[in-house]
Amino acid sequence: MHDRYAVIGNPIGHSKSPQIQGLFAKAAGLEIDYTAIEGPLGAFVATVDAFRANGGRGMNVTAPFKLDAFAYATERSERAQLAGAVNALKFEGERVFAENFDGVGLVRDVVHNLARPLAGKRVLLLGAGGAARGALLPFLQQQPASLFIANRSIDKAVKLAAEVKGQGPVTGGGYAALADQAFDIVFNATSASLRGEVPPVPYTAFAPGALAYELVYGKGLTPFLRLARNTGVQHLADGVGMFAEQAAEAFAWWKGVRPDTRDVIRQLTVPLV
Ligand code: ATR
Repeated sequence: MHDRYAVIGNPIGHSKSPQIQGLFAKAAGLEIDYTAIEGPLGAFVATVDAFRANGGRGMNVTAPFKLDAFAYATERSERAQLAGAVNALKFEGERVFAENFDGVGLVRDVVHNLARPLAGKRVLLLGAGGAARGALLPFLQQQPASLFIANRSIDKAVKLAAEVKGQGPVTGGGYAALADQAFDIVFNATSASLRGEVPPVPYTAFAPGALAYELVYGKGLTPFLRLARNTGVQHLADGVGMFAEQAAEAFAWWKGVRPDTRDVIRQLTVPLV
């Protein structure tokens, strides 16, 4: 029997993970058995226990189980701890290793695929929820000139910045504080786009030549990307590359081979129109 892997979430019907992991395995000349599991709400532990008992070696974890996965783990990476959420698990006997690859996947996409280094740049991160938390440490490791976290609930941004202030030049505040600042890269890590809303970013926040990056993917020109385009921003990206890269990180963590993501990104890309 091949090693068993799965993605767990609820709902899970539209997950692209089985397709992506299958492509990675094929490209690496490996066979893996990767399925999608719709975990019953409130039964995360029982579902994962059963999967492990049947030969499960690892899982991707998606909504609403990222916190359950955090609690289930016996060992958590530093970035998973800071994110407070887990998107990949690895099982070795009694041990359950937990990771959060969203932030590293995002950085890899921006720096490698989009060829936009964060080093020395002025970076704006919109949002202070789970998605933003996951990105923080990987961003700071790139040594940006500055990182500003802007959030609707100002106290959450200020608190989050304080949590990582030893790691780099990071500050937090509200959207009003953006009035007299410009940034080279603006990341939308709020959930606003999922509801057709747009965070109140002033057009002056985009420096000439800026990149506007929407962490959500597959939704075309979201309200945030439209706002950026309407203010003259020419470099727009959504999170398709981030999604492919976090999947590749998980594959590499499990199988020891880092897959090439180009085909996957090509297959999943939805034009930004
Ligand atoms: P996720 O895990 O996707 O980050 P979350 O933890 O619920 O989800 O966080 C959602 C983030 O989107 C928060 O930063 C939220 O701002 P508040 O903390 O002020 O609620 C932000 N958000 C959601 N809708 C928004 C909107 N219309 N404008 C600005 N920010 C918004």
